[in-house]
Amino acid sequence: MPQLNEQANLNGDTPAEVDADVIVVRDLRKNYGELTAVDGLSFSVHAGETYGLLGPNGAGKTTTMRMLSGLSPVSSGKITVAGIDVIKDSRAVREVMGVVTQHDGLDGGLTVFQNLFLYGFLAGLTRQRAKDRAHEVLDFFSLRDRSKANVYELSGGMKRRLSIARSMMTSPSVIVMDEPTTGLDPQSRNRVWEELAVLKELGATVLLSTHYMEEATILCDRLLIMDHGKILDEGTPDQMIERHAPSEITQLRAEPAALRSVRDYLGERDIGYREVGALVSVTGANGDRPDLSGLTSVEGIRTTYRAGNLEDVFLAITGRELRDS
Ligand SMILES: Nc1ncnc2c1ncn2[C@@H]1O[C@H](COP(=O)(O)OP(=O)(O)OP(=O)(O)O)[C@@H](O)[C@H]1O
Ligand SMILES: [Mg+2]
Repeated sequence: MPQLNEQANLNGDTPAEVDADVIVVRDLRKNYGELTAVDGLSFSVHAGETYGLLGPNGAGKTTTMRMLSGLSPVSSGKITVAGIDVIKDSRAVREVMGVVTQHDGLDGGLTVFQNLFLYGFLAGLTRQRAKDRAHEVLDFFSLRDRSKANVYELSGGMKRRLSIARSMMTSPSVIVMDEPTTGLDPQSRNRVWEELAVLKELGATVLLSTHYMEEATILCDRLLIMDHGKILDEGTPDQMIERHAPSEITQLRAEPAALRSVRDYLGERDIGYREVGALVSVTGANGDRPDLSGLTSVEGIRTTYRAGNLEDVFLAITGRELRDS
C-alpha cells in the first residue's frame, strides 16, 4: 500500500485556508501568442479532496494542469501546492506531486518493472527504495503478473494503469491526473475508480480532468466546469445538478417512422426538446412533466423518465455535450 505523506499546510490568506487548502490557484493565465488558453482561473482544492476539471475540448484543462505540475510556465497568476510556490520552485513541487499526463509517456522499450523503477530512481529514490517501492506499487495496482512484460505488449487499459501506478512511485500526497480513464473499457475504468477510491481513503488530494460525467459524479467531491480558459461554475456534483439541471427529464426513444410525429407534436406545442439519434429528451415548463398524452396513439415510441444529471449540467452551461464537445 502506498504510504502517503502528511498533507503540508499552506501559507494561505486566512486561518481556514492554512489548514484546508492543498492546491491554491489565483488568477492564473496562459497565453499562446494571441490565444488565451487559461484566462484568470482561481480555485482551491482542500486536503483529501478529489476535485474535477470538466470542460469541452480546448477549454484549458491540460494547460492548467501542466502549469500546476510545474511542467509549463505561467503567463501570470499564482499557484501554491502543499505550501510550495510552484512558479518559484517547480522542482520542489514534483517531490510531493504525482502526475499522470494526458498521453502516457511510458518507455515502450522497457518492462513494466523497469518503467516504475527508473521513474522512482530518476525522481530521487535510492536504488533499493525504488526497487522496493516498485514492488509495492505493482501489488497495489495488481500488475505483478505483468511486471516482466514490455510496455508495447500491454493493452491500452493496462498502460493507463501503469502510468497511474508510476505516478505513485514517490508516495505523493497530491496527484494530478489528466483524463485518467479516457479510452478505457468499462471494466478497466471501474478498476481505476476503485484504485482512486483507495488513494482517497489514504488521504491523497486529487485533481483530475475528465470527459465522463459518471466518473465526475462518482469520484469528485467538488468540480468546476470551464470553457475558453474561464470557470463557468463550481460546486459539488449535487449542487451543480440542483442549480443547472431539470429535476426530471422525459426520454422518448422513437422509431424512424415515429420521429416526425414526435417533432411535430413538440414543435406545435412549443415544448423544448433535444434530439440525439433516436432519443428525444424533453423537459416541461418549470421542470414539470410535459403533457405528451397526444403521442400515446403513435406506434413506435417508448417513454422513460430519468433524473437530471451532470451531463445535463454540462450541456446547460457550456451549450455542448460532455463527450462530443
Ligand atoms: N503548446 C501549445 N501551443 C499553442 N496552443 C496551445 C498549446 N497547448 C494548448 N494550446 C491551445 O490552448 C487551448 C487549451 O488547450 P488544452 O490542451 O488546455 O485544452 P483541454 O481542455 O485539455 O482540451 P482536451 O479536452 O481536448 O484535452 C486550445 O485552444 C489549444 O489549442
Ligand atoms: Mg486536455
